[in-house]
Amino acid sequence: MSKIIIVSNRLPVKVRNEGGQSIFTPSEGGLATGLASVHSDGNLWIGWPGTEVEGEQQQKLVTDQLSKHNLVPVFLSKQEITQYYEGFSNEVLWPVFHYMTPYAKYDSVYWQYYQRVNAKFRDAILQIAQPGDRIWIHDYQLLLLPKLVRSAIPGVTIGFFQHIPFPSYELFRQIPWRSELLHGMLGADLVGFHTYDDARHFLSSVTRILQLQTSSNIIHYNERTVVSESFPMGIDSNKFMSLVNDRDVINERQHLEESYKGQKIVLSIDRLDYSKGILQRLQAFDSFIQNNPEYKEKVTLYMIVVPSRDSVPQYKELRDEVDKLAGNINARYRTNNWTPVNYFYRSFPIETLSALYQLADVCLVTPMRDGMNLVCKEYVASREKDNGVLILSEMAGASKELTDAIIVNPNNITQMSEALLEALHMPEEEQQRRMTQMRELVSKYNVSHWAKIFMERLDEVKRMQESLQTKYISPRIQQLIKNKYSRGHKRLFLLDYDGTLVGFNTNINRAVPDKELYHLLDDLTKDEKNHVVIISGRKHETLEEWFGTLKLDLIGEHGVWQKTYRGEWEEVKGLQTEWKKEVMTMLNTYTERTPGSFIEEKSYSLVWHYRKTDKELGEMRATELMNNLRYMIADKGLSLLAGNKVVEIKPTEANKGKTAVHYLRKHHYDFVMAIGDDVTDEDMFKALKDEAITIKVNSNTSAAKYYLRDFKEVRELLKNLPAKMLITKVFDKFINLIPTSMFGIKKNK
Ligand code: UDP
Ligand code: G6P
Repeated sequence: MSKIIIVSNRLPVKVRNEGGQSIFTPSEGGLATGLASVHSDGNLWIGWPGTEVEGEQQQKLVTDQLSKHNLVPVFLSKQEITQYYEGFSNEVLWPVFHYMTPYAKYDSVYWQYYQRVNAKFRDAILQIAQPGDRIWIHDYQLLLLPKLVRSAIPGVTIGFFQHIPFPSYELFRQIPWRSELLHGMLGADLVGFHTYDDARHFLSSVTRILQLQTSSNIIHYNERTVVSESFPMGIDSNKFMSLVNDRDVINERQHLEESYKGQKIVLSIDRLDYSKGILQRLQAFDSFIQNNPEYKEKVTLYMIVVPSRDSVPQYKELRDEVDKLAGNINARYRTNNWTPVNYFYRSFPIETLSALYQLADVCLVTPMRDGMNLVCKEYVASREKDNGVLILSEMAGASKELTDAIIVNPNNITQMSEALLEALHMPEEEQQRRMTQMRELVSKYNVSHWAKIFMERLDEVKRMQESLQTKYISPRIQQLIKNKYSRGHKRLFLLDYDGTLVGFNTNINRAVPDKELYHLLDDLTKDEKNHVVIISGRKHETLEEWFGTLKLDLIGEHGVWQKTYRGEWEEVKGLQTEWKKEVMTMLNTYTERTPGSFIEEKSYSLVWHYRKTDKELGEMRATELMNNLRYMIADKGLSLLAGNKVVEIKPTEANKGKTAVHYLRKHHYDFVMAIGDDVTDEDMFKALKDEAITIKVNSNTSAAKYYLRDFKEVRELLKNLPAKMLITKVFDKFINLIPTSMFGIKKNK
């Protein structure tokens, strides 16, 4: 039976050796706690057991124990732990992805180990993956893994989810191995993040660094389409809701209530990490007591800091600073009856956390950056009485969902201190109003929902890939096309120009036809059986100038203008131009605001070009412009086309699809070939019947049957079609070299 194989750096349990015995304890961090409930029976989880396990025998013992829980260990050596985990993952990727670039140490040895360990994970997957399995890879430690697995099993289904933020392109580009990392991630079919901003940043890096084409959130990557989207992760809310009635939890809560009688409890729980804003939170608490002395002996900050990555230098330093600041606050304000900061540097079982979540009047979650943050959701889920106040940093992914929290900027100490006052003063009704909303959300969008949505989307992406998969013209397909060509008696060629017969040029006036193209068209049109039509969006005057004397038909402005060989230019009757004035005014405003953009005026259409503009700016403005134009042109019989670096407004009446149909009606062709690279060519592909050979250039996602990579491949294909002619030519040449007397024939001049 097909299964889901979860792969993450860490397994949900870690092993430690005590007197020759392997002891297993739960792993820290949101990934492990969150995914634990997704890892149900039948599914496997591959990961590192959190420590170095030495010796084959010991490794075998650990493997056997873990396999009882469907866990598969990847053992890492001391060197690998230092260089791949502590080094590349936590001294390069973690700081950069959390906007702390000064902490990043770009060490090439780290990079070598990162590649090596990612390959080690690939080998582990290959050992257990069966056809039909879906592989779900998690987080920044394994960015190269999707590509490694894809190279080994090309058709496999791979989902990738990143649990930490994806930084802005400006930061990501600083990493020396940025391209390799992106290629690694693009091995997946679906790349998920917690928030829309993360997905947006990823798409921006992909387009800018790898120069890939994207349409909305779909990335055209070689011969595959990859989708990137946001999937805000939830928690196992039922577990936290039911813990409220657990006997041990009730006892623990009662005990805590007793100890903190008459006190308001402000709760803070994180792993020790500079991304969590622990120091700033302590400063805010300090400022709160200083500004509101009436709260002395009445409020306690209950602060749990879970040890994490303590062999990475910045974490060691942070620990010292937190110790110092917490100690300092206590030293200044402590009384015989009161310790302002109750600080614990260790981890606690879920039962204790649950009791604390239930007890705390306020939960203070103020990371500087956090992919999601599950602690705040756990607090909300545990508030059975629908009261309590959550103060949440706007830098946590969760702030996009938990909008009823008091949202703060973690750099603004004054604001955080005021938020504490507001929280402690918040009337019960207001608390209930906010908490009810948040509880509904946390319960509905729980972790099972998250996993279900992700997996459904992954299957959908796979189906979309299959349906849009346009075949590349392999030598075998090329041969079939050639056979069909040679059998044909009346052949039609509908050829787009820009991007299809010539390359895409940032200067439209430079994309002029060259000698090779003229030769090619000459050869093609020489054959009486061939009817060649250049079907372009270009102005008819330009087409006339370039191809007017050739033995072919010309279609300009996507079908507005038509001319047969030796005929006159004719336009579609009844087209209007009054609309141009209003649209032109709008295009002018966009041109003024967008350096490098310009307007092209054709007889019945207007085009806004942004091929010379910064890619992102151009795309942003194009989207904006289209949104505005959509209203303006409604009911005017106009269509809006988002082409390759252009936005075109043209009469709906004239399009390449209609033109193609017009040709098919006029004659009976037994060979039809249509080639194009742009959205306007899709009309043509859709309008043609199944027998037609439709070819998309530069993308394999299309209504066309086949695709080619660029105009050079198009030229090669067209050149090689007339195989007979070619043979004749070679034969002619050969004949020319032989003295005529030998055959007693005259040479053909
Ligand atoms: N946690 C824990 N024991 C503790 C403190 C915290 O198991 O003593 C858990 C907590 O319940 C939460 C996770 O650690 O599920 C922290 O996840 P979060 O997303 O908030 O932060 P991360 O550590 O992943 O950055
Ligand atoms: C975050 C990361 C996880 C990581 C966890 C704990 O939640 O997204 O990938 O496992 O922190 O960090 P650690 O370094 O102990 O695995």
